[in-house]
Amino acid sequence: MLDTIESLAKEEKSFTASNTFKRKANSQTQSLYSSAKTDRLSFWDNQAQNLEWFSPYTSILEWNRPFAKWFSGGTLNASVNCLDIHLKTKAQKKAIIWEGENGDIKELSYQEVFEEVNKLADILKNKFNVKKGDRVTLYMPMIPELLYALLACSRIGAIHSVVFGGFSAQSLKDRILDSQSKMVITANGGSRRGKVLNLKNIVDEALSKNDTPVENVLIVNHLPEDTCPTQKKEYDQSYNELRKSAANYVEPEHMESEDILFILYTSGTTGKPKGIVHTTGGYLTHAKYSTKTVFDLKDDDIYWCTADIGWITGHTYMVYGPMANGATVVMYEGAPDYPEKNRFWEIIEKHNVSILYTAPTAIRAFMKWGLTHIEKHNLSSLRLLGSVGEPINPEAWEWYYNHIGSKQCPIVDTWWQTETGGIMISNIPSLNDMKPGFAGLPLPGIEAKILDKDGGEVSKGGGLLSLTEPWPSMLRGIWGDNKRYKEVYWDKFNTYFAGDGAIKDKDDYIKVLGRVDDVLNVAGHRIGTMEVESALVEFEGVAEAAVVGMPDEIKGQAIVSFVILEENFKQDDDLENKLKQFVSKQIGAIAKPKQIIFTPDLPKTRSGKIMRRILKNIAANEDTGGTSTLANPAIVKSIKEQFNKLS
Ligand code: PRX
Repeated sequence: MLDTIESLAKEEKSFTASNTFKRKANSQTQSLYSSAKTDRLSFWDNQAQNLEWFSPYTSILEWNRPFAKWFSGGTLNASVNCLDIHLKTKAQKKAIIWEGENGDIKELSYQEVFEEVNKLADILKNKFNVKKGDRVTLYMPMIPELLYALLACSRIGAIHSVVFGGFSAQSLKDRILDSQSKMVITANGGSRRGKVLNLKNIVDEALSKNDTPVENVLIVNHLPEDTCPTQKKEYDQSYNELRKSAANYVEPEHMESEDILFILYTSGTTGKPKGIVHTTGGYLTHAKYSTKTVFDLKDDDIYWCTADIGWITGHTYMVYGPMANGATVVMYEGAPDYPEKNRFWEIIEKHNVSILYTAPTAIRAFMKWGLTHIEKHNLSSLRLLGSVGEPINPEAWEWYYNHIGSKQCPIVDTWWQTETGGIMISNIPSLNDMKPGFAGLPLPGIEAKILDKDGGEVSKGGGLLSLTEPWPSMLRGIWGDNKRYKEVYWDKFNTYFAGDGAIKDKDDYIKVLGRVDDVLNVAGHRIGTMEVESALVEFEGVAEAAVVGMPDEIKGQAIVSFVILEENFKQDDDLENKLKQFVSKQIGAIAKPKQIIFTPDLPKTRSGKIMRRILKNIAANEDTGGTSTLANPAIVKSIKEQFNKLS
């Protein structure tokens, strides 16, 4: 850690937003910071007042560590705050500019999205009897109907649980079972890199044993039947048919501020993903405030967050935050390199995108693909750039700044998590300078500290990142598992433990270094090492497996698996490939190991515990340190040799 801090001091550079940007920025003075410092709760009270409430709240925060209640007594509806409130002033304003991978474009006004959301809400409520508090799983491609589905659920008070379309049938089933969803909304398929992803088949596989509570599957026919054939099941319901006779208006449910808005599963340190619970009033307060503040969002912006709605970034900064602010959002169905590697720049030029929010993995891929794809496009509509999901290395930051933003666009490097609901640490570029590689200062209203392992504050230097005061969009628990909620986030310190290591510099800027637990971050996606290990040992012939991350130039981290086979198991030449495919089938392609190393043993302590630290060192090409305490020190050399041969 000390080495890192010293090298940081050398590399620190800072950049200032242009005067043109500053002059027009939403935040002109330090008043947000100062008012939040003076009275944090009345600061949040003011932010919550920007929402439309059916009935006012009677208290701002009730804090009974680790359980928070924000804006108790108040009632509201998220879909009303994202749609109905805009109908008087901007019904004809574009809400969504959707582009399919095949080039199809749909532009939908707030009025149109309002009607579509109401129709879907009517179908769910009146045709399928989905009631307040019921869970609905959404397993869909990036099409407008996914956005409608989130808002339709919130309109009738149903809890949505979106499962990213890249997850396998087994992962989908696990999440359906854990949330006890009675309904699934899917599409026959989606397009990815020119291929058809047949989602409905995956749903059928997940439901094939008939052992889930799902009664109906609502299917959006997004692709033509002949390119995406599906089998008819008795639970099938056609969205396209039902939509024709659906009502244009459904009375919005009056939700308590603390009623659950959604569950979103994310990986943790055990084999079982956690259903992170977010509630209505607090989440929406922060989503609306942070979108406007961090992205400096204005009424004429064309805003593009490239994240899939299957992740928290898509929930907060593609749907709830921008729509609560009445923004125009761009939504793209496909891959950044299809049909060519200039697809993003083409979209920006065509739709005049002014704010782009993407991930460091994508930025590093663009760097590798070269400038020729960029130079043929006019990107002068851009005025602000964002980064999220993983640490951005200063080199990628500067490339993004120079080549995408033409040195004119400030960059916001935003640190947050599924659990935090919204951005916690980020610069506000009109107010403070940017430093490549540093997320910057906590947002006004957010308190963050770097702690040592005993919970003492480290004023300058490195340690563990903790959020030290409750905030409105904080997770309210893990679905069905309050014990795990307490253990994971609140047992280590008195305050919220984020699971990340971080460093603070002389200006109190925070640089987040990455996970300190057994969670990997591959291309900005969180994957628990235990999940991959559990999948590997299910393969016949695998006796033991250990999974660690290795540095990857583009994806930040890649997965390396060390596998011990059962003694009499016959290894064929294709075993490595078969195992990779197996993990992909069990969890999803994002969890596929990059390297698999077969070994007769793993470095273990005398009591039999696998020493992951040593495997991590090998995978990172670092010194493995002392091995004398191991029961089997010789194995380290042999694993190292094998690994070096591969990489
Ligand atoms: O390790 C941090 C990293 O992503 C983790 C959260 O992942 P997830 O819940 O999937 O949410 C991702 C999108 C918000 C964090 O614990 N992370 C996220 N943003 C940054 C980051 N690491 C460094 N810098 C960031 N800006």
